[in-house]
Amino acid sequence: MRIDSRQMIALCNQFLKFYDSRLVEHGERVACIACKLMAQFEHREQLELKNVVLLALFHDIGAYKTEEIDRLLEFETVDAERHSIYGYLFLKNFTNLSALAQAVLYHHTPNSRLEGVSPVIRYYAQLIRLADRVDIALENKTSPEELIPRLRRLDFEPSCLKALEKAVSQGKVTAPVAGEERERWEQEVLSSIPVSQQEALTYLKMMVHTIDFKSEATALHSTNTVIISCFLGEKLGLTQPQMESLSCAALIHDLGKAQVPNSILECAGRLSEGQMAVMRRHVEYTYEIIKDILPQDIVDIATRHHEKLDGSGYPNGLKAAQLTQSDRILAVADIVSALSSRRSYKDGYSWLRTLHILEDMANRGLIDREAAGVIGENYLELQAVIERQSKPILRRYQAIRTQYEGMLTGGVCRTR
Ligand SMILES: [Fe+2]
Ligand SMILES: [Fe+2]
Ligand SMILES: [Fe+2]
Ligand SMILES: [Fe+2]
Repeated sequence: MRIDSRQMIALCNQFLKFYDSRLVEHGERVACIACKLMAQFEHREQLELKNVVLLALFHDIGAYKTEEIDRLLEFETVDAERHSIYGYLFLKNFTNLSALAQAVLYHHTPNSRLEGVSPVIRYYAQLIRLADRVDIALENKTSPEELIPRLRRLDFEPSCLKALEKAVSQGKVTAPVAGEERERWEQEVLSSIPVSQQEALTYLKMMVHTIDFKSEATALHSTNTVIISCFLGEKLGLTQPQMESLSCAALIHDLGKAQVPNSILECAGRLSEGQMAVMRRHVEYTYEIIKDILPQDIVDIATRHHEKLDGSGYPNGLKAAQLTQSDRILAVADIVSALSSRRSYKDGYSWLRTLHILEDMANRGLIDREAAGVIGENYLELQAVIERQSKPILRRYQAIRTQYEGMLTGGVCRTR
């Protein structure tokens, strides 16, 4: 899968937008402002531009606790601990930024509360906190002149405030980052930041996990869908480029679930017709997030995972002739992953029951017979592969839950 830093950032923007439209491009604007502050920052040689950009970009990734979004967009946020802790845990557990993830943990914490924290983390955290507040103030039409006195009351690291004063006096912070300014920044700064394929993939996985980790029942869904898709792809002789596209599509196929309310995703009973209609829209949301960013073949595979061979699927009611082998593989993998895992409304089905359902669906002309057959013939091997490959993710999920509870009750990043 080839994806560069701009594509990754575009994906992140689109993704956060679907959490809450008010978060549109907030991460990118904060990253741009943080860069301007860094240019004026007296300790800048202790920081790295790439780290500033990535931390700023993802600082609100934990905000899927949407009840906090209202609060974090207010100018003087008083309680934003939950998304700070989740953001920290996601960055720490899934990305190369683990050593600096505390900067996200403290991105709403006043300077005087950071006494035992290393200067470097404190600088990153305070720069992002300041850039975050500047962005929200500018979006709320506060003038740059009004900005400084207001921010002085909020207990910032003095050298960060000094950097802001310099940037404002040079006319560098005037209005919300948008239009030409943003494009220039993307071209001049963002594009020059090297993000390897491996790194881009870790951030993509982190975004996927923020959705899957909403509950234990779905914690492994995308992971298992990737494992099963690759298993099928290999058995069915897909080429290497086909395998790459398939596994990327499998990873992101449910990204659009970020937009589906938790009450529906975690519904304990059967969904009503209305709820089902909302749930089904996740495919369109996935399409909206990835359509202008990822290659067309990946977009196609990812957004056809609920299509059925007889045309009875959604969203487009495509028929067998319109569905490629990769489309069919992902559809089968998604079903197997969903059936075999525990959901809020059911326990995981036994393999026997899963195989029976697959056979029935193949007989009714809904799913690909060949792919279903491969599962039937190799289910013991598949079971072992899933067990082996998904265990580390489950362990991480459980660790994140435990650490989150502990950190929340411990009040580690109190914002007042
Ligand atoms: Fe935040
Ligand atoms: Fe923020
Ligand atoms: Fe789906
Ligand atoms: Fe799915």
